[in-house]
Amino acid sequence: MGNENAEQFNELAGLYEDMAEWPFRKDIEIPTVLQTIGDVEGLSVLDFGCGTGMYSRWLKQRGAAKVVGYDPTVGMLNYARRRAEKEGLDISFVSELKPGLRGQFDLVLAVYVLPYASTAAELQAMCNEMVGLLRPGGRLVTLPIHPSYDPHANYYEAYGFRLIADDPEDPFADGGGVTLELCMSGQQGKVAAWYWSASSLERAMDEAGIKSLEWRELVAPAYPTIEQAPESLHAYLQKPHSNIIVGIRGR
Ligand SMILES: C[S@@+](CC[C@H](N)C(=O)[O-])C[C@H]1O[C@@H](n2cnc3c(N)ncnc32)[C@H](O)[C@@H]1O
Repeated sequence: MGNENAEQFNELAGLYEDMAEWPFRKDIEIPTVLQTIGDVEGLSVLDFGCGTGMYSRWLKQRGAAKVVGYDPTVGMLNYARRRAEKEGLDISFVSELKPGLRGQFDLVLAVYVLPYASTAAELQAMCNEMVGLLRPGGRLVTLPIHPSYDPHANYYEAYGFRLIADDPEDPFADGGGVTLELCMSGQQGKVAAWYWSASSLERAMDEAGIKSLEWRELVAPAYPTIEQAPESLHAYLQKPHSNIIVGIRGR
Protein backbone atom coordinates (compact mmCIF):
# COMPACT_ATOMS: atom_id res chain seq x y z
CA MET A 1 0.00 0.00 0.00
CA GLY A 2 1.27 3.47 -0.78
CA ASN A 3 1.73 5.90 2.07
CA GLU A 4 1.70 8.97 -0.17
CA ASN A 5 -1.36 10.34 1.64
CA ALA A 6 0.71 10.40 4.83
CA GLU A 7 3.15 12.93 3.27
CA GLN A 8 0.65 15.74 3.73
CA PHE A 9 1.22 15.45 7.51
CA ASN A 10 4.95 16.20 7.38
CA GLU A 11 4.63 19.85 8.38
CA LEU A 12 1.68 19.47 10.72
CA ALA A 13 3.25 18.04 13.89
CA GLY A 14 3.05 21.27 15.94
CA LEU A 15 -0.54 21.90 14.90
CA TYR A 16 -1.63 18.32 15.68
CA GLU A 17 -0.01 18.42 19.10
CA ASP A 18 -1.86 21.67 19.89
CA MET A 19 -5.10 20.00 18.82
CA ALA A 20 -4.96 17.74 21.89
CA GLU A 21 -6.06 20.83 23.83
CA TRP A 22 -8.99 21.66 21.55
CA PRO A 23 -12.28 21.03 23.38
CA PHE A 24 -13.64 18.38 20.99
CA ARG A 25 -10.50 16.31 21.58
CA LYS A 26 -9.82 17.19 25.25
CA ASP A 27 -13.40 16.85 26.56
CA ILE A 28 -14.89 14.34 24.10
CA GLU A 29 -12.60 12.21 21.93
CA ILE A 30 -9.63 11.61 24.25
CA PRO A 31 -11.66 10.67 27.36
CA THR A 32 -14.05 8.48 25.28
CA VAL A 33 -11.13 6.68 23.64
CA LEU A 34 -9.37 6.14 26.98
CA GLN A 35 -12.62 4.90 28.55
CA THR A 36 -13.17 2.54 25.61
CA ILE A 37 -9.65 1.18 25.87
CA GLY A 38 -9.91 0.68 29.65
CA ASP A 39 -7.06 -0.76 31.69
CA VAL A 40 -3.85 -1.17 29.67
CA GLU A 41 -1.63 -2.31 32.55
CA GLY A 42 0.81 -4.90 31.22
CA LEU A 43 -0.55 -4.84 27.64
CA SER A 44 1.43 -4.77 24.46
CA VAL A 45 0.02 -1.89 22.37
CA LEU A 46 0.63 -0.51 18.89
CA ASP A 47 -0.47 3.07 18.11
CA PHE A 48 -1.07 2.89 14.33
CA GLY A 49 -0.68 6.28 12.60
CA CYS A 50 0.55 7.62 15.95
CA GLY A 51 1.28 11.13 14.60
CA THR A 52 2.98 13.12 17.37
CA GLY A 53 2.58 10.18 19.74
CA MET A 54 0.05 11.70 22.13
CA TYR A 55 -1.83 8.43 22.61
CA SER A 56 1.42 6.44 22.70
CA ARG A 57 2.53 8.56 25.67
CA TRP A 58 -0.83 8.20 27.43
CA LEU A 59 -0.70 4.40 26.98
CA LYS A 60 2.80 4.17 28.39
CA GLN A 61 1.97 6.46 31.29
CA ARG A 62 -1.05 4.26 32.06
CA GLY A 63 1.10 1.17 32.49
CA ALA A 64 1.21 -0.54 29.07
CA ALA A 65 4.18 -2.94 29.14
CA LYS A 66 5.22 -2.28 25.55
CA VAL A 67 4.19 0.62 23.32
CA VAL A 68 5.12 0.88 19.66
CA GLY A 69 4.10 4.00 17.72
CA TYR A 70 3.95 3.55 13.94
CA ASP A 71 3.67 6.38 11.45
CA PRO A 72 5.05 6.65 7.92
CA THR A 73 5.43 10.46 8.22
CA VAL A 74 8.95 11.43 9.26
CA GLY A 75 7.97 14.91 10.51
CA MET A 76 5.42 13.39 12.91
CA LEU A 77 7.73 10.60 14.09
CA ASN A 78 10.64 12.97 14.79
CA TYR A 79 8.38 15.04 17.00
CA ALA A 80 7.01 11.90 18.72
CA ARG A 81 10.53 10.58 19.43
CA ARG A 82 11.84 13.88 20.83
CA ARG A 83 8.82 14.34 23.06
CA ALA A 84 8.84 10.78 24.48
CA GLU A 85 12.58 11.03 25.13
CA LYS A 86 12.11 14.35 26.93
CA GLU A 87 9.42 12.75 29.11
CA GLY A 88 11.58 9.68 29.79
CA LEU A 89 9.04 7.31 28.24
CA ASP A 90 10.28 4.05 26.77
CA ILE A 91 8.32 3.95 23.50
CA SER A 92 9.59 2.60 20.24
CA PHE A 93 8.58 4.74 17.23
CA VAL A 94 8.85 3.07 13.84
CA SER A 95 8.27 4.29 10.28
CA GLU A 96 7.66 0.84 8.83
CA LEU A 97 5.96 -2.32 9.98
CA LYS A 98 8.54 -5.10 9.97
CA PRO A 99 7.14 -8.66 9.64
CA GLY A 100 8.33 -9.45 13.20
CA LEU A 101 5.61 -7.15 14.58
CA ARG A 102 2.79 -9.27 13.15
CA GLY A 103 0.55 -11.01 15.69
CA GLN A 104 2.38 -9.38 18.62
CA PHE A 105 -0.12 -6.93 20.10
CA ASP A 106 -3.01 -7.13 22.60
CA LEU A 107 -4.33 -3.80 21.38
CA VAL A 108 -3.98 -1.76 18.19
CA LEU A 109 -5.20 1.83 18.44
CA ALA A 110 -5.65 3.80 15.21
CA VAL A 111 -7.09 7.27 15.74
CA TYR A 112 -8.10 9.14 12.56
CA VAL A 113 -6.12 6.95 10.17
CA LEU A 114 -8.81 5.09 8.17
CA PRO A 115 -9.90 8.37 6.47
CA TYR A 116 -6.50 8.45 4.70
CA ALA A 117 -7.25 5.36 2.63
CA SER A 118 -8.04 6.85 -0.78
CA THR A 119 -9.31 3.70 -2.52
CA ALA A 120 -11.18 0.58 -1.45
CA ALA A 121 -7.97 -1.41 -2.00
CA GLU A 122 -6.05 0.93 0.30
CA LEU A 123 -8.79 0.71 2.92
CA GLN A 124 -8.56 -3.08 2.81
CA ALA A 125 -4.75 -3.03 2.97
CA MET A 126 -4.86 -0.66 5.97
CA CYS A 127 -7.37 -2.86 7.82
CA ASN A 128 -5.27 -5.95 7.01
CA GLU A 129 -2.19 -4.24 8.44
CA MET A 130 -3.97 -3.14 11.63
CA VAL A 131 -5.58 -6.52 12.28
CA GLY A 132 -2.46 -8.47 11.27
CA LEU A 133 -0.55 -6.81 14.12
CA LEU A 134 -2.97 -8.25 16.71
CA ARG A 135 -2.61 -11.59 18.41
CA PRO A 136 -5.73 -13.75 17.98
CA GLY A 137 -8.28 -12.35 20.44
CA GLY A 138 -6.51 -8.96 20.45
CA ARG A 139 -8.53 -5.75 20.16
CA LEU A 140 -8.61 -3.03 17.51
CA VAL A 141 -9.90 0.43 18.47
CA THR A 142 -10.12 2.79 15.51
CA LEU A 143 -11.83 6.08 14.62
CA PRO A 144 -13.13 6.65 11.06
CA ILE A 145 -15.06 9.67 9.79
CA HIS A 146 -18.52 9.18 11.30
CA PRO A 147 -20.72 7.51 8.67
CA SER A 148 -23.41 10.09 9.62
CA TYR A 149 -21.19 13.18 10.02
CA ASP A 150 -22.83 16.54 9.38
CA PRO A 151 -22.10 17.41 5.73
CA HIS A 152 -22.58 21.18 6.12
CA ALA A 153 -19.07 22.51 5.57
CA ASN A 154 -19.24 24.96 8.50
CA TYR A 155 -20.89 22.67 11.05
CA TYR A 156 -17.64 21.91 12.91
CA GLU A 157 -16.09 25.37 12.51
CA ALA A 158 -16.62 26.26 16.17
CA TYR A 159 -14.55 23.15 17.01
CA GLY A 160 -11.57 24.26 14.95
CA PHE A 161 -12.10 22.53 11.62
CA ARG A 162 -14.23 22.29 8.48
CA LEU A 163 -15.10 19.05 6.70
CA ILE A 164 -15.80 19.83 3.07
CA ALA A 165 -17.02 17.05 0.78
CA ASP A 166 -15.45 17.24 -2.69
CA ASP A 167 -18.93 16.70 -4.09
CA PRO A 168 -21.31 18.73 -1.90
CA GLU A 169 -24.24 17.17 -3.80
CA ASP A 170 -23.22 13.71 -2.65
CA PRO A 171 -21.30 14.03 0.64
CA PHE A 172 -21.91 10.39 1.60
CA ALA A 173 -20.53 8.88 -1.62
CA ASP A 174 -18.56 5.78 -0.61
CA GLY A 175 -14.87 6.57 -0.98
CA GLY A 176 -15.64 10.21 -1.81
CA GLY A 177 -13.01 12.86 -1.08
CA VAL A 178 -13.39 15.16 1.93
CA THR A 179 -11.08 18.08 2.68
CA LEU A 180 -10.29 18.67 6.33
CA GLU A 181 -9.43 22.32 6.93
CA LEU A 182 -8.03 23.20 10.33
CA CYS A 183 -9.03 26.70 11.34
CA MET A 184 -8.50 27.20 15.09
CA SER A 185 -7.22 30.60 16.27
CA GLY A 186 -5.39 31.53 13.09
CA GLN A 187 -3.75 28.11 12.71
CA GLN A 188 -4.17 26.61 9.29
CA GLY A 189 -3.74 23.25 7.70
CA LYS A 190 -5.49 21.44 4.89
CA VAL A 191 -5.59 17.68 4.58
CA ALA A 192 -7.19 15.43 1.94
CA ALA A 193 -9.26 12.58 3.43
CA TRP A 194 -11.84 10.05 2.19
CA TYR A 195 -15.30 9.12 3.46
CA TRP A 196 -16.14 5.42 3.88
CA SER A 197 -19.65 4.11 4.56
CA ALA A 198 -20.37 1.91 7.58
CA SER A 199 -20.89 -1.10 5.30
CA SER A 200 -17.54 -0.58 3.50
CA LEU A 201 -15.76 -0.27 6.83
CA GLU A 202 -17.50 -3.36 8.23
CA ARG A 203 -16.77 -5.37 5.08
CA ALA A 204 -13.08 -4.41 5.13
CA MET A 205 -12.82 -5.28 8.84
CA ASP A 206 -14.54 -8.63 8.30
CA GLU A 207 -12.23 -9.43 5.39
CA ALA A 208 -9.21 -8.50 7.55
CA GLY A 209 -10.25 -11.05 10.20
CA ILE A 210 -12.25 -9.00 12.72
CA LYS A 211 -14.85 -11.28 14.19
CA SER A 212 -16.77 -9.18 16.66
CA LEU A 213 -17.32 -5.55 15.69
CA GLU A 214 -19.06 -2.84 17.70
CA TRP A 215 -19.65 0.84 16.99
CA ARG A 216 -19.41 3.35 19.85
CA GLU A 217 -20.37 7.01 19.85
CA LEU A 218 -18.10 9.76 21.11
CA VAL A 219 -19.54 11.30 24.28
CA ALA A 220 -18.32 13.72 26.93
CA PRO A 221 -17.71 11.17 29.72
CA ALA A 222 -17.61 13.86 32.42
CA TYR A 223 -21.30 14.64 31.78
CA PRO A 224 -24.10 12.05 32.00
CA THR A 225 -26.20 13.72 29.26
CA ILE A 226 -25.57 16.15 26.39
CA GLU A 227 -27.71 18.75 28.19
CA GLN A 228 -25.37 18.65 31.21
CA ALA A 229 -22.29 19.24 29.08
CA PRO A 230 -21.19 22.85 28.42
CA GLU A 231 -23.38 24.34 25.70
CA SER A 232 -20.34 24.92 23.52
CA LEU A 233 -20.02 21.12 23.09
CA HIS A 234 -23.68 20.40 22.24
CA ALA A 235 -23.50 20.71 18.46
CA TYR A 236 -20.48 18.42 18.29
CA LEU A 237 -22.07 15.84 20.61
CA GLN A 238 -25.24 15.84 18.51
CA LYS A 239 -23.30 15.13 15.30
CA PRO A 240 -19.74 14.03 16.09
CA HIS A 241 -17.46 13.96 13.04
CA SER A 242 -16.04 10.60 14.12
CA ASN A 243 -17.02 7.52 16.10
CA ILE A 244 -15.28 4.40 17.30
CA ILE A 245 -15.02 0.90 15.87
CA VAL A 246 -14.03 -1.76 18.39
CA GLY A 247 -13.17 -5.13 16.90
CA ILE A 248 -11.68 -8.41 18.08
CA ARG A 249 -9.35 -10.43 15.88
CA GLY A 250 -10.73 -13.92 15.27
CA ARG A 251 -8.63 -17.01 15.95
C1 LIG B 1 -4.96 12.88 11.75
S1 LIG B 1 -3.39 12.24 12.13
C2 LIG B 1 -3.74 11.40 13.65
C3 LIG B 1 -2.52 11.17 14.50
C4 LIG B 1 -2.77 10.46 15.83
N1 LIG B 1 -3.36 9.15 15.64
C5 LIG B 1 -3.63 11.29 16.74
O1 LIG B 1 -4.72 10.87 17.06
O2 LIG B 1 -3.18 12.37 17.16
C6 LIG B 1 -3.29 10.93 10.97
C7 LIG B 1 -1.96 10.20 10.97
O3 LIG B 1 -2.09 9.06 10.11
C8 LIG B 1 -0.88 8.87 9.44
N2 LIG B 1 -1.15 8.12 8.22
C9 LIG B 1 -1.63 8.55 7.04
N3 LIG B 1 -1.69 7.53 6.15
C10 LIG B 1 -1.28 6.43 6.81
C11 LIG B 1 -1.11 5.06 6.45
N4 LIG B 1 -1.40 4.63 5.23
N5 LIG B 1 -0.64 4.19 7.37
C12 LIG B 1 -0.35 4.62 8.62
N6 LIG B 1 -0.48 5.90 9.03
C13 LIG B 1 -0.93 6.79 8.13
C14 LIG B 1 -0.37 10.29 9.17
O4 LIG B 1 1.02 10.32 8.96
C15 LIG B 1 -0.80 11.03 10.42
O5 LIG B 1 0.22 11.10 11.39
